Order: sequence, then C-alpha cells, then structure tokens
Amino acid sequence: MIITGKYPNLRMRRSRKEEWSRRLVRENTLSGSDFVLPIFLTDGKNKKQEIKLMKGVYRYSVDNLSVIIDRAIKNKIPMVALFPNTKIKLKDKSGSEALNENNLVSKAIVKIKKKYNNKIGIMCDVALDPYTTHGHDGILEKNEILNDKTIEILIKQSLMQAQMGCDVIAPSDMMDGRIGEIRKELDKNGYENIQLLSYAVKYSSSFYGPFRDAVGSKKALQGNKKTYQMDYSNLNEALREVSMDIKEGADMVMVKPGLPYLDIIKAVKDNFKIPVLAYQVSGEYSLISSAINNKILNKEAIYESLLSFKRAGANAIISYYADYLDKILK
Ligand code: PBG
Repeated sequence: MIITGKYPNLRMRRSRKEEWSRRLVRENTLSGSDFVLPIFLTDGKNKKQEIKLMKGVYRYSVDNLSVIIDRAIKNKIPMVALFPNTKIKLKDKSGSEALNENNLVSKAIVKIKKKYNNKIGIMCDVALDPYTTHGHDGILEKNEILNDKTIEILIKQSLMQAQMGCDVIAPSDMMDGRIGEIRKELDKNGYENIQLLSYAVKYSSSFYGPFRDAVGSKKALQGNKKTYQMDYSNLNEALREVSMDIKEGADMVMVKPGLPYLDIIKAVKDNFKIPVLAYQVSGEYSLISSAINNKILNKEAIYESLLSFKRAGANAIISYYADYLDKILK
C-alpha cells in the first residue's frame, strides 16, 4: 500500500521532533522548590558518615550541618526534614529520649534556626521508633502497640519540637486520632501557626529497610509494623485516612512510599484539594542508585523517577536525591 502525504492527519511526533518543541508542550517540570531534603543526624563533632545501605547519603553531626544546608538553600529547597540516629544507650521501652529537650533533633533545630532563621523550613518526624529499644513507633505492651498511650507521648514530642523552633510537625507514627490531639495541644500553647504535615497514607512497606539502618532501628525492630501502618493492598482506605486527617486539621498530607504508590498519590490529589507530598523512600533511593552505580540504568532514571511524582499530582517530593539537585536539574 502506498502511504499518501495526507496520512496520518495528525502526526504526534511533529511536536517531539526538536528539543525546543518538546520543551514548549511539556506538561510537568521540576525545580528546587519541589523538594524536601531529609537529613540524618548523629552525635559527635565534625562527623559525616556514609550510610552503608544508601551510598551517597550521610549522617551529619549538628556542628557540621552548614555544608548540606547551604547547598539546599542554594538549590532553592524550601524545607529540610530531620531524622536522628540515637545512641543505643539512650533508647528505652517508651522512647523517653524523644522528650529530651537536649536530644539530637532539638539541638539541630536550635542550631539551624539560629544560623538560617526563616530562610529554610524545618520539618520533624513525630514517632518513637528512633528512640525505642524495640524499634516500634509507639508504646509496646504485651505484643500490642497502644494507640492512646502513644498519642499522649506524641503530643509532648510535638509540643517540644514546636518550642525548639520546628516549623512543620510531621507525625509518621500512624496512630489513630493523633493529628487532632496534636493540633489541640499546639493551639493551647500558642503554636497555632505551626503546620501539621500528616503522614496520612503510610504503608507497611519493605522499602523502608535502608532508612531503618540509617537511624539505627533496623536491628532493634521486633516483628513488623503491620498493625498500625497500612496494608499495601488498599486504596480506599488511603482516602479514608486522608479525609479523617483533613477533618482533624492537617495542613498537608504525605503518601509513602512513592514510586510503587503513584496511583495512591493521584487518587488522593483527585479526591482532596490539599497539598500532597510524596516520599521517595530509602529503598527506592538505594534501588535506583545501585542500578546506576552498576551501569544498569543511566543517570536520567533519577530525573524520570522524580518527575513521575509531579505528573501523579504531588506538590512536593521528599527525596534523598534532593542533595544532588544541582546535578540532577541541569
Ligand atoms: C519512622 C519513619 C520511617 C521512615 C520515615 N519515618 C520508617 C518506618 O516507618 O519504619 C521511612 C523513610 C525511608 O524509608 O526513607 N516512623
């Protein structure tokens, strides 16, 4: 058959032919403002330790944070997220180090606020897993994670973080009702302008493995977190979680992990007009990075993976790659 000049009527490839034209019709882009940079903290002085299971990601001592935060500000990143690696001897059954005004997170908040004021936002996890000997996010009694007893501690942890200068409180513990209770406590104490970012949709996932190594809760963890983190078979349940947290006062919600859950990000965004953050978690980072280091994937895989979150509807992305934006975005 002879293909005439008129066939096909529309050639989709016309707009893909030149680089300028691809840019012209591009639907989504990435910039520094789309990212939150997670930072792992460790004790000591002048420390920068590479995390074994996350090549290219480091734990920093509090005195040594300027380099990474200067870079974040230069890359226009709006916010950092702090995660402590707590010494084993400071851990106990109830995670009491979480309430120590001199713990790693507190010291880091004070230091960052003093040096950078409001040039960059600070977000802190609310959960007990970096501080408990059993590695769970809440109080463990007779093989059960106690919801309401845990919330009593999370409220105090949140208030303390706010008092230290944290801008965005991010409960990642998955207890029921904690957003409303934390909101009440913050308001009662004059912190009505502190934002709440709820890890509303957090699945019980195998992709958190390297993170647990980074904060030192991997070996500690007894069992799994399936009785409080979500079952990854479920989507409607995610929408119910988000609707409850919105009623309880969440300013933003998180979906976590990221890449295996793009459908969830899209569903949350389609159903609720609230800012949605996607967390590209440690296991995703390690998978992509090791494939690149082993020359299985090329480096553009990073950009592609990050852009997919924007396409799915995320307003921002928490990613360990945020420390490499100068290279990734160029
Ligand atoms: C702790 C917490 C976890 C992550 C963020 N906050 C781990 C967990 O729930 O076990 C995971 C982040 C990552 O894997 O990058 N509540």
